[in-house]
Amino acid sequence: MPRRILIDADPGVDDALALALALRSPELSPVAVCAVNGNASVEKAAANALRILDVLNPSPRPPVAKGADQPLSRPRVGAEHVHGGDGLGGATELRGQNGSLRYPPSETPLDQRHAVDLILDAADEETVLAALGPLTNVALAVRADARKMRRYAELVVMGGAFRTSGNVTPQAEFNVYADPHALQEVLAAGLQLTFIPLDATSSVLLTPQTLAEARGSLGRFTRDISAQLLAFTQKAAGVNGMHVHDALVIAYLLDESLFRLEHVCARVETAEGASLGRTYHEAGGTPNARAAFEADEARILALLKSRVLSLQPDGDR
Ligand code: BDR
Ligand code: CA
Repeated sequence: MPRRILIDADPGVDDALALALALRSPELSPVAVCAVNGNASVEKAAANALRILDVLNPSPRPPVAKGADQPLSRPRVGAEHVHGGDGLGGATELRGQNGSLRYPPSETPLDQRHAVDLILDAADEETVLAALGPLTNVALAVRADARKMRRYAELVVMGGAFRTSGNVTPQAEFNVYADPHALQEVLAAGLQLTFIPLDATSSVLLTPQTLAEARGSLGRFTRDISAQLLAFTQKAAGVNGMHVHDALVIAYLLDESLFRLEHVCARVETAEGASLGRTYHEAGGTPNARAAFEADEARILALLKSRVLSLQPDGDR
């Protein structure tokens, strides 16, 4: 039986890769996609989720619902300089030879329910909640009914930087920095929680060489959404390749042995200042989560190559 998974995301280039990996993995059964403000506005994130599903054309097609349009108590922080003004590296403006948009707005409507209601409705022991953006929707669901949220088999969060430096400030990772209060409320709620933080995701790099070889319509889509981000990381950091952070949450759900995990007593800094959004392990504290500190780059890239980029047969993971 495939594992049921609800994906809360802010697509986002790496969110798109995560959705692609999830929907192309028979071990998983995505029940819904919820959009949250983050890399792009919640409107754009939701529209992108629908577009990505158009490219993937899954059957059955999970509903997409719109959630929070701003963090719980801080002003919005975006990542348009990284993921493009549209959240998908400008791909939504690409045109084919006949002049029509290559990835037009979807004709499938959004689910009428609020994302928080979908998250609450799906909460049961058989379902995993994958949080790939700021935790605003998840925290609002916890506020509404923490007991119900504890029914989730697991909440897997892409976020945090425990022993490594941040990617939005020297100390903070984007998803946590964008809504640190949301993480604080989620930590207090006592869910079965696993972090896939920068400590693990920074060691997996998808190179332009690999993307250039990608095949099929999904391969082309991946290349199209990644081009700007690759140029940005090359220019900003001199790095030849891009991190695929959110896709590692899906890789974890497919095979935990791809990661080295430790129990942690996770804390987040919510005071304004240089440490805002910092995640850390409180020495001597009672463990409240697990966190991944190493990732198997070769095997994770093999998964992406076989399932998303149509580059090599599955099986030699
Ligand atoms: C996280 O921040 C976002 O920009 C990415 O989509 C990912 O979820 C990485 O820090
Ligand atoms: Ca994301």
